[in-house]
Amino acid sequence: MNKAEVSALFAQQFNEAPSFVIASPGRINLIGEHVDYNNGFVLPAAINKHMYVAVSKRNDHQIVLHAADIPQNYQTSLDNASQPSNVDWPNYVLGVVDELKKDGHAVSGFNILITGNIPIGAGVSSSAALECATVFACKHLFDINISKQAMVQIAQRAENNFVGVNCGVMDQFASMFGKADHVIKLDCADLSYTYFPFQLENISIVLFDTFVKHSLASSEYNTRRQECETGLAALRQQFSITSFREATLTMLDAVADTISKDVYHRCRYVIDEIARMEAACNHLLAGEIDAFGARMYETHTGLSKLFKVSCPELDLIVENCMIEPAIIGARMMGGGFGGCVIALVQTTELETVYNRINAVYENTFGHSMGKYVMQIGDGTRVLN
Ligand code: GLA
Repeated sequence: MNKAEVSALFAQQFNEAPSFVIASPGRINLIGEHVDYNNGFVLPAAINKHMYVAVSKRNDHQIVLHAADIPQNYQTSLDNASQPSNVDWPNYVLGVVDELKKDGHAVSGFNILITGNIPIGAGVSSSAALECATVFACKHLFDINISKQAMVQIAQRAENNFVGVNCGVMDQFASMFGKADHVIKLDCADLSYTYFPFQLENISIVLFDTFVKHSLASSEYNTRRQECETGLAALRQQFSITSFREATLTMLDAVADTISKDVYHRCRYVIDEIARMEAACNHLLAGEIDAFGARMYETHTGLSKLFKVSCPELDLIVENCMIEPAIIGARMMGGGFGGCVIALVQTTELETVYNRINAVYENTFGHSMGKYVMQIGDGTRVLN
């Protein structure tokens, strides 16, 4: 969508032109899953699908929201904005307003229209995109002097404190800092980052959508985080380490008797994945794309067997990718329990392999799987 289209939707609703229109993308992640909240590295990129918000100031202290795609309205006052709504979608906006206020930034009443083309519930972070769009819109509307890093952290805290998902920083960072044709190697310990060019000749980044709607807020995500914290606490009792970054499998084995089997498996996955991500980046730099793909498959196995965040639909797709020579690597992506598989596929073979895997998928689950070819795009920005 362009500025004129979003502005027209805004004018229909609010009878005026918006002051700013912001685009904020969803994200993919090539490797480094469930390690952002464990001080690991991740390798995400922004995609060419966005949430859009259009905003204007009001003369009163009301926040008036319109979600154009549902369509639904919601209204509250600035004073009551710290109160999460019973309806989900306004919370992504109100959570950001609440965090801005907590940081002492001056915010007054505003109108906001929300629209977008990011598939919801597919694991490509439509929620982070909306949070980043909102904080970026507030920065411009209220002339707030704030860095991109600080906006990322506000967006993440909105999700943690208001939406109730104890997520890490990856999604909001990728949405805000995305750069066309580049993946971001992000050090989640200190938010330092490097852009890597990612343009592979004749290879497409494809998402296969299970259409199983994952609900991260549904306790499992928070449980995994809790299990990792329990494991780290046990490791720190015996070793002078601060995070999983310094942990080794030898250390984990030394504390195995003091933790449950589940916690052992979660930690085992995290330690493997942190090392795997480093190896995968080296493969990418050396142009060893097949080795990179092999690491993706290993990540899937770890997420499925040790971290236990996969589901039969995701597993079936990845198992079938493994037997396709035209697929370089594939794995479930994001929080898990549904959503998409990310796969690197030889472009000329895409239709053929999709049809073959989809036939098995349809036969097993009674409905087809989705297919989206991803382009890597820019991060959160004002549309001119
Ligand atoms: C979700 C969270 C992220 C990250 C991924 C798993 O997308 O929002 O912070 O933990 O799951 O890597």
